[in-house]
Amino acid sequence: MASIVGSPALDLLFPEELISPEVTKQLPSELQIRPLASTDYQRGHLSVLSVLSVVNDLGEAAWVSQFHAMRATPRTYYSIVIVDRASDKIVGVGCVFIERKFLRGLGSVGHIEDIAVDKSQQGKKLGLRIIHALTHISENSGCYKTILNCSDANIPFYQKCGFVQKENEMAKYA
Ligand code: ACO
Repeated sequence: MASIVGSPALDLLFPEELISPEVTKQLPSELQIRPLASTDYQRGHLSVLSVLSVVNDLGEAAWVSQFHAMRATPRTYYSIVIVDRASDKIVGVGCVFIERKFLRGLGSVGHIEDIAVDKSQQGKKLGLRIIHALTHISENSGCYKTILNCSDANIPFYQKCGFVQKENEMAKYA
């Protein structure tokens, strides 16, 4: 299993080497960016995600089972977290999902999903760092584009992250 050097071995979703060294350097020393770990339920992963949408917490065992289901599909799910070292609590989360296509010479597309920064930490460039780290993973996975859906209110944020507005989103909820 992959682990963070210098920390008690963490059971990670994907190898930590895929995290951009540039983004790691830009973070203040009290914060760490890394792949999601199997123990991150206890570090408040769902509590940070609840800043974004309804979570419906089914308990730690169900969360861990989802973690393992994601890891069983290799080179597809890349969930990352920013952790406050002092409190050992998660303060930012995000994910990129790699879709393999038949188009574009069997090309791949990175889908950025579920970006959230704890309210107390917003406005400190953590969202920007998360997007840059996820885009780095997408581009290093060979994706020809990285896309996402967002509200009108978040368009300026994604523009600051280097994204441009393109086409429309459609949705049909079950
Ligand atoms: N409107 C205008 N500008 C914004 C906004 C906004 N809503 N949000 C951030 N910015 C700007 C910042 O001012 C900053 O600009 P600067 O470089 O000129 O100083 C730049 O964007 C980077 O901002 P960050 O400090 O990195 O933003 P933050 O860490 O607060 O993260 C985020 C932004 C993720 C949207 C956060 O506010 C959040 O968690 N919101 C609630 C959940 C949410 O909406 N998540 C995104 C859903 S879309 C998806 O998941 C694909």
